[in-house]
Amino acid sequence: MRTLGIAGRIRSVQIDILTLFPQMFQSPFSTGILNRAIDQGLVRINIHNIRDCTHDKHHIVDDYTYGGGAGMVLKPEPIFETVESIKPDIKEGVDILPIILLTPQGRPFSQEIANELSSYRYMILICGRYEGVDERVREHLVTDEISIGDYVLSGGDLAAMVVVDAVVRLLPGVLGSKASSMDDSYAAGLLEYPQYTRPAVFRGWSVPQVLLLGNHAQITNWRREQAIKRTLERRPELIDKASLSLGERQLVDGLRNCLPTPPPSNLSLTNTI
Ligand code: ADE
Repeated sequence: MRTLGIAGRIRSVQIDILTLFPQMFQSPFSTGILNRAIDQGLVRINIHNIRDCTHDKHHIVDDYTYGGGAGMVLKPEPIFETVESIKPDIKEGVDILPIILLTPQGRPFSQEIANELSSYRYMILICGRYEGVDERVREHLVTDEISIGDYVLSGGDLAAMVVVDAVVRLLPGVLGSKASSMDDSYAAGLLEYPQYTRPAVFRGWSVPQVLLLGNHAQITNWRREQAIKRTLERRPELIDKASLSLGERQLVDGLRNCLPTPPPSNLSLTNTI
């Protein structure tokens, strides 16, 4: 097991990751915000090589699929044993410990799930590989399955990094100011407003005037309006769930009336057949 970080004084979170490729985690966890969070003891990340819990000469972790078919399946024994070796380290809440398998069959990862996971003190992430993982791991070990999108990666390792990144940045003390994660896209159910920095004019393109005048109330209103417009244009399905004031709902209705009506979804099909 390789440990990236030392548990700190304030409430620190421990994440244990089971993988066949521990080296994949070195770079993402040793740069940027994740690295700082580890150095500050806000999170402790333990990387476990599943292969270390094999007992045969060749350290075999996979085998043919029963019933026939292409590809290899990860064996249950080393995964169960690795998780069992971690459990004695868990100081509290072992009965509610999330044991998460990263798989394209899992529930779609979202900001809401990141928030939910950020409230746990411990969690275990299992990175699948090859054609799959023995079903008994799903049935008798894991408590949750997460997918980071409707596409297939070569394994759950990159998905685990995505989950860790999204969760760790929400932990108290990780980001400089509380506001920075509050303003994130999705934090309030809306996409983030446009951001600008100096110069005020670049190649003839100016920063919106309102941002230069220093009126904070106007800036807040402008940002909120931009966030709503952007969400409506790019991710209209998010708008209905977002928490908006009555005035903002009226703004949405007004904007909806201005947006071009999308063509019926079967139109282009009919035309091309
Ligand atoms: N493993 C392979 N593809 C994946 C995905 N989309 N999400 C999570 N784990 C995966």
